[in-house]
This record gives sequence, C-alpha cells and structure tokens, in this order.
Amino acid sequence: MSSPHRVPIYSANPPEKLVKRHHTTRYYVHRVQESLTTRISKLVCSIFLSLLLILGIITFILWLSLRPHRPRVHIHNFSVPGLSQENGFENAQISFNVTLRNANEHIGMYYDAMDGSVFYRDQKIGSKLLLASLYQQPKTTTIITDVLSGATLTVTSQRWMEFLNDRAAGSVTFRLDLASTIRFKVSTWTSKRHRMHASCPVSVGADGSILPLSKDKRCPVYFT
Ligand SMILES: *[C@@H]1O[C@H](CO)[C@@H](O)[C@H](O)[C@H]1NC(C)=O
Ligand SMILES: *[C@@H]1O[C@H](CO)[C@@H](O)[C@H](O)[C@H]1NC(C)=O
Repeated sequence: MSSPHRVPIYSANPPEKLVKRHHTTRYYVHRVQESLTTRISKLVCSIFLSLLLILGIITFILWLSLRPHRPRVHIHNFSVPGLSQENGFENAQISFNVTLRNANEHIGMYYDAMDGSVFYRDQKIGSKLLLASLYQQPKTTTIITDVLSGATLTVTSQRWMEFLNDRAAGSVTFRLDLASTIRFKVSTWTSKRHRMHASCPVSVGADGSILPLSKDKRCPVYFT
C-alpha cells in the first residue's frame, strides 16, 4: 500500500504531469466542441438578426406607404341668415358646407352614422344626423352640406339676444362638431372602429355669413 509505485496512481494528489496531460487533451476536445457550438450559435444568431432587420425594413416601408392619414375636414360655408332680425330665433336656421377628404392612397374609410352639432359658447344649440353611413374610396372628397332648423335647432330668445350682442361687436362665433366612428380598410383587412370627431370653430359677420378668416379652414380631427 505504501509502495512508492502505487503512490502516483492511488494518491489523492496524483503527480502533476499526469494531471496536466489528461487535462490538456480533454481541454482541447472541449475547446473544439465549444468553439464549434459558439460558431453555430453565432451563425444562427446573425441569420436571425439579419432576418429581423429585413423584416423591420419591410415593415417600415409598408408603414410609410400605407401610413393612414386621418380624415381631412374643411369648413367652406356656414351661415345664419336672419341674424339681423330682432326675433329671428323663431325661424332660425343654420346652414353649412364642409368637406371630408380621404387623403390616403391605398386606404379606404368606412364611416358609421355621422352626427353634426353646433355649439355656441360650449352649449349645444342644435344637432342632426348628417350621414347614415359612408364608404370613402382612397383619394376622394365628400361634400356634406346641411341645414339645422326647426326641431334640430334649439335657440331661445335669450340665446338669440346673445347672438345679437356678439353681432353688434362684429361677429358671432360658433363651433361645428362632426362625430362618427371610422374603420380603415386596407385591401381586404378592416381595422377596428375608432371614434373620431372634427371640431370647426367658425365666425359669421353681421349679415350672418361666414367671415373670410373662417372660410376654407381645416378643422382639427381627434380620435378617442
Ligand atoms: C354659403 O351659404 C349661403 C346659404 O346657404 C349661400 O347663400 C351662399 O351663396 C354660400 N356661399 C358660398 C361661397 O357658397
Ligand atoms: C361646398 O363647398 C365645396 C368646396 O368649396 C363646393 O365645391 C361646393 O359647391 C359647395 N356646395 C354647396 C352646396 O355650397
């Protein structure tokens, strides 16, 4: 047991030379295996990243060319004839002309029912259904022209006096709001519904017709 020959073999601390050789062979085998797996995983990784990059570029280009423009709303005319009459509220009437444009090249727009409301000092003074529903082709414009009167317009004599006071000061300012829900259509795919509304501040002069500063103005469009 304590023979000098056996010591190197059974000793808990074998001679260094043996350990080193043993270690070195395994170490190189291991190194080769490791570098192979590293190279393969690096290759897979770079292929994956390249694909991801290409996909990203394609998506970006598609997004650029398909990027939906929100509807463009312009107010062209707005008039309150009879504004010069003291008791004009009895047959008060508001008529307007707005355009709705789909400026997209490849995206169609479905509108559900569209409501138009007129506000005066943030008080709703009238509203009406303007469109039942509409599909708007790309690059097309729809003219919406309508009149609020009678039951669709609630103007009291007191409110009318306020109009007349503003009129005496030079102009009466209203706000025309259009509200609808829209879906975007790209080829055969249709987006979910988005609630939108356009807000058109508009001023009329003493004769009840639109002032040049409000004419053909673009109305901001919001999605909620
Ligand atoms: C604006 O509307 C009023 C009333 O409907 C009309 O008399 C007038 O001609 C219109 N103006 C324009 C520029 O279309
Ligand atoms: C509404 O405005 C558009 C654009 O200015 C015009 O082409 C159209 O004739 C107008 N329609 C009415 C009824 O005033």
